[in-house]
Amino acid sequence: MQLIEREEIDEEEDVFEAIDKLIAHGINAGDVKKLQDAGIHTCNGLMMHTKKNLTGIKGLSEAKVDKICEAVEKIVNFGYITGSEALLKRKAVIKITTGSQALDELLGGGIETNAITEAFGEFRSGKTQLAHTLCVCTQLPTNMGGGNGKVAFIDTEGTFRPDRIVPIAERFGMDPGAVLDNIIYARAYTYEHQYNLLLGLAAKMSEEPFRLLIVDSIIALFRVDFTGRGELADRQQKLAQMLSRLIKIAEEFNVAVYMTNQVIADPGGGVFISDPKKPAGGHVLAHAATIRLMFRKGKGEQRVCKSESINCSSIFLNKTHIFQITPGGIADAKD
Ligand SMILES: Nc1ncnc2c1ncn2[C@@H]1O[C@H](COP(=O)(O)OP(=O)(O)O)[C@@H](O)[C@H]1O
Ligand SMILES: [Mg+2]
Repeated sequence: MQLIEREEIDEEEDVFEAIDKLIAHGINAGDVKKLQDAGIHTCNGLMMHTKKNLTGIKGLSEAKVDKICEAVEKIVNFGYITGSEALLKRKAVIKITTGSQALDELLGGGIETNAITEAFGEFRSGKTQLAHTLCVCTQLPTNMGGGNGKVAFIDTEGTFRPDRIVPIAERFGMDPGAVLDNIIYARAYTYEHQYNLLLGLAAKMSEEPFRLLIVDSIIALFRVDFTGRGELADRQQKLAQMLSRLIKIAEEFNVAVYMTNQVIADPGGGVFISDPKKPAGGHVLAHAATIRLMFRKGKGEQRVCKSESINCSSIFLNKTHIFQITPGGIADAKD
């Protein structure tokens, strides 16, 4: 089984307009190239930048930026749409199976495109294993719970294991070599590197059908690169920028973003809990994800997942489900 060619699927429409369409609207190719070099590859993406951002691009004057924005508005509608049109847009959202029916149920069908799903939990609670499983499931055809798309993996902890992909692909009856070829992978060493990797993604996503972006983990490098109370405000501001980039990628390309988060000790967690922990990242991170999952260890290879706080309606709050980590990836618990 391999990814189905886009041309073979009639109902799947591109969710974005390529930036070179501007040329037909009177913008010269040199200026379009400048936008592309700055990481802007779609008209939808362009509208996610402020004019201040755009005039910051070398060679783009204020007058040029005004002309570009006028042209973009002719190509894409950035004003109001009707409720029915919004509903139609929601239909483009794909839900990608996690490999466990119980977990899918908790998520209202799976990991959603056009949204950020966060998993936080202690060490070895299965966050990275779910990332590996999603690398495979995303490539399944849509009628099998997949997204028929490629995967981008940003690894900040050095825990991606390509050899783990092989048995997971085999479990789903897919060719491991083809599955690995459809994953692009980058190891980030600083939060700046992590951000630049996100900027570089727009070029790739505008050329090929991606359905999943993994950031494992979102917070690790921030905790290394910023230390102490004095740098906290700066850290949170940079973190907010990173998260804003993520949600824009999710919406621009109809991609699911799966990010993992660490837990830290929570001294104010209550006297009845022996070892209280809370997700890292504070309020900035707490409000970024559409869906927030808490993982913890159960007995043996079993893991417990609870939906923590949610910004959307289709999922029940505080439901608990049990799944299991198997050689073939995340699966339902056996007993
Ligand atoms: N091949 C495998 N088969 C079964 N379980 C595995 C396999 N590889 C890893 N695991 C389980 O996954 C756990 C690690 O989970 P991981 O996703 O790396 O945790 P986290 O990212 O939350 O720290 C291991 O402790 C082990 O229980
Ligand atoms: Mg991990």
